[in-house]
Amino acid sequence: MEPKQKIILTGDRPTGKLHIGHYVGSLRRRVELQNSGLYDKIFVFEADAQALTDNIENPEKVRQNVIEVALDYLAAGLDPERTTLFIQSQIPELCELSFYFMDMVSVSRLQRNPTVKTEIQMRGFSGESIPVGFFTYPISQAADIAMFKATTVPAGDDQEPMLEQAREIVRRFNYIYGDTLVEPNILLPENAACLRLPGTDGKAKMSKSLGNCIYLSDSADEVNRKVKTMYTDPTHLQVSDPGHLEGNTVFTYLDAFATDEQVARLTTDYATLQEMKDHYTRGGLGDMKCKKLLMAVLDETLEPIRQRRAEYEKDIPAVYEILRKGCEVARAAACETMDEVRRAMKINYFDDRALIEEQARRFQK
Ligand code: TRP
Repeated sequence: MEPKQKIILTGDRPTGKLHIGHYVGSLRRRVELQNSGLYDKIFVFEADAQALTDNIENPEKVRQNVIEVALDYLAAGLDPERTTLFIQSQIPELCELSFYFMDMVSVSRLQRNPTVKTEIQMRGFSGESIPVGFFTYPISQAADIAMFKATTVPAGDDQEPMLEQAREIVRRFNYIYGDTLVEPNILLPENAACLRLPGTDGKAKMSKSLGNCIYLSDSADEVNRKVKTMYTDPTHLQVSDPGHLEGNTVFTYLDAFATDEQVARLTTDYATLQEMKDHYTRGGLGDMKCKKLLMAVLDETLEPIRQRRAEYEKDIPAVYEILRKGCEVARAAACETMDEVRRAMKINYFDDRALIEEQARRFQK
């Protein structure tokens, strides 16, 4: 279906506080998209029901993190006046749409979903011990997206198989029942360093279980402490040694965060990040100098976020109220789509005068 409006939808599982990997990978972009004024509607939601699909041994973790993630959203600059912030579990229509979507996907198609495949391996589910809800979460995620007629889903490349599956389901639905739903497109991060920010230890991914995260809510001292011990180039032993940029976490973070304007302003010797990199590669530039720049850059980014967070933390009931209002707005949109879906599926029996009259005639004969 040709979309009439440009609509953004994206979200996160509330399983932990958000870190700077989330920030460069998605949050920062969302705030820019919100502020661009180019979109008719923006929905950002907490996928708590999806989080339960693989946290069923610890539902309290999900419950506790709903407020943490909401605070991170608001602190990062999502504005509830312009962006609808809501919680997945509060929109029961999502279950309804997922149920119909389940008829459009085969078990083998789900088994081929690369994200499901790797997550099954990572979590050590063997054979058929995988919970049905977890196995089918790509279907529920397709419902999240289709319900709000999202045209644009900003997300990391790990979500690409999910989007592909969502598009297939939408196409199938529209083919069977007529044009009703909208095929979404993924919007990937622009900068390679932002696609997946490594942890402070240089490991491929920032993750709470690896203890290698810098959180948006970390104090300046905590951030500086983490940067000081960050992984750099293990072969760069003396300042005079030539250094390597490849796999050097400090430079990966600088690529993700620093602008040339900042480099010029916050260092005495370099006009651009490239100049600093060249010096490092030649030899003669110590890691600590690079880390000092990174600390300054991170502080410029994180300080306004920390301040906004502190403001919102003063009135937590008001934050729940923001979410409650967002859920109301989201639910109204969901009800509208579900009305269209039921009409397309012709299961709106009681509103269908033609059906009732046709059946009446049939039985009068
Ligand atoms: N699966 C996403 C994650 O792991 C969260 C999510 C759920 C989502 N539904 C979505 C993201 C819909 C984008 C669109 O973070």
